[in-house]
Amino acid sequence: MSCGAVSVEGKKPAYRARVNYNPKKAWKYQARREGKHRAELRLVERAFQLIPPGTVLDAPCGGGRLALLLAKKGYRVTGADLSEAMLAIARENIQKAGLSVAVEREDLENLSYGDRSFDAVICFRLFHHFPTREIRTRVVRELCRVANRFVILSFFSPYSFTSAKRRLRATLGLGKLHHHQTPLSEVKRYFRNAEFRLVKDFAQFPVWHTLHLAVFERNETGNHPGALPAVTLAISASHHDNKSNGSGRKLPPALGRKSEQ
Ligand SMILES: C[S@@+](CC[C@H](N)C(=O)[O-])C[C@H]1O[C@@H](n2cnc3c(N)ncnc32)[C@H](O)[C@@H]1O
Repeated sequence: MSCGAVSVEGKKPAYRARVNYNPKKAWKYQARREGKHRAELRLVERAFQLIPPGTVLDAPCGGGRLALLLAKKGYRVTGADLSEAMLAIARENIQKAGLSVAVEREDLENLSYGDRSFDAVICFRLFHHFPTREIRTRVVRELCRVANRFVILSFFSPYSFTSAKRRLRATLGLGKLHHHQTPLSEVKRYFRNAEFRLVKDFAQFPVWHTLHLAVFERNETGNHPGALPAVTLAISASHHDNKSNGSGRKLPPALGRKSEQ
């Protein structure tokens, strides 16, 4: 399939996570610590208490753990990732779970979906790999473009004990900083430029842990036919019917595709 990755083929990748999810690394990622995995899913569940039922793009979906979690909660999920190895694992996991989740090869720097294709878009555990503001800007712009209403983004905050410890170790030459920490103020700026505003920032474990998950919502002026009603900041979790969509019902794919460029 044609994909944004094509445009940069042959060039040195700007960050390792773009290319290093080969079969070995992809399987290794699935085998991460159970406690860590569960804590991350709990963080996602907290954020999705703000998201009403609807379509969700999970990008990057990796092996599909979030896509499965959200599909079980009744969201109509599409998973997208650049790594064929990760996509193969996601497809296998989805099939085993008996759920209906479309999984597609996509480049987050240049998504093929049309504008506002999904009610919500989640980007989990990738942003901290981006080494430059240019890439962060480009990806946030794409996430916001394809989201009709919500974007949920994870990032590594510099304001935590773990982040400070990592920086200190790197300064002392005892380790390397493999990830990029981004203050919430900077993350908010990318979203402000894309006409989204912060609804809530969740910390996995405040002050201690570096992983944050922030929910952003589109600013609406109400002057176009599809305008959203006034923003409700605290959407009741009771909006969720929490029904499994494991009925085998074919779920609709993304609403539209961006025209080929
Ligand atoms: C750390 S994994 C996270 C996967 C998933 N969100 C999870 O938490 O299980 C990072 C993923 O980002 C994918 N990735 C890296 N660069 C990408 C890009 N430009 N577009 C789409 N996926 C990308 C990798 O293939 C990998 O599956």
